[in-house]
Parts: sequence; C-alpha cells; structure tokens
Amino acid sequence: METLRHLVVLVHLIGFATLFGAWVVQAFGGKREFTRLMNIGLAIAAVAGLALAAPWGLAEGVEMNYAKIGTKLVILLIIGALLGIGTGRQRKSGSVPAAMFWLVGILTLANAGIAVLW
Ligand code: HEM
Repeated sequence: METLRHLVVLVHLIGFATLFGAWVVQAFGGKREFTRLMNIGLAIAAVAGLALAAPWGLAEGVEMNYAKIGTKLVILLIIGALLGIGTGRQRKSGSVPAAMFWLVGILTLANAGIAVLW
C-alpha cells in the first residue's frame, strides 16, 4: 500500500509539473494566456491530491495534517476559479487580465511550497 501511495504522489507531481510548466511557458516568452494544459494539470493534481487526502498507505507513525490539506484544497479551488473565469475573458476579449494570470502561477507555487514546507 505504501508503494501505491508513492505512485499516487508521483501522479500528483505530474499534475503539478504539467500545470506549472504550462504556466511558465506562457509567462516567460509566451502570450501570457491560459491554456488547456493548465486545466489538465490542475485536474490531475486535484484527483491525485484528493486520493492522498485519505489516510491510507502511510508509513508507521506518520500522521495526516488536515489543516494543511484543507488549505491546499481551498487554494486549488481558487486556481480553478481563476482559470475558468480567465479563460472566459480570454475568449471574449482575447486576453487574460494580468493579475489573474500571475495569481495562477503564484498560487500554484504557494501550494507546492505548503506541501513541502508546512
Ligand atoms: C495546484 C495544486 C497542488 C499543488 C501544486 C500540489 C503540490 C504538491 C507537491 C509538490 C507535493 C509533494 C510534497 C512532498 O512529497 O513532500 C504534494 C503532496 C501532497 N499533496 Fe498536493 N498539491 C496540490 C493540490 C493538492 C490538493 C487539492 C490536495 C488534497 C485535497 C493535496 C494533497 C496532498 C497530500 C496529502 C500530499 C502528501 C503526499 C504524501 O506524502 O503522502 N494536494 N502536493
């Protein structure tokens, strides 16, 4: 079970890498737009993250930090809302408001930071 949990963590990291990588491409040298890959990365991170939110396959003595998991879930929902609203604006006006674009990158990095540092 522990190995299976590590595999789900790997999938979770693939979601994070896809979301953050797609954002970095757009932020540095790209058109600073939201792309489909960002939504796909977020969905992968969300599904794997929710699977990891349950206490299974943990090494002995390891306890779950539900405050941390809850915070990450709230941040993920905000990122999802920004991507949804921003993509709508992008379709209408051709561009994403700069604040929305940068917030998605900052909040994604914040979630990874919380995962590693909290
Ligand atoms: C954009 C959203 C997210 C990002 C960027 C992200 C990032 C990460 C990263 C980098 C790790 C690895 C940390 C480590 O191995 O020490 C991790 C682990 C974890 N994440 Fe997330 N995460 C996100 C969303 C979520 C959500 C929504 C949940 C749950 C509701 C969640 C639950 C977890 C759990 C429980 C672990 C620990 C896995 C373990 O060691 O057993 N994550 N996350």
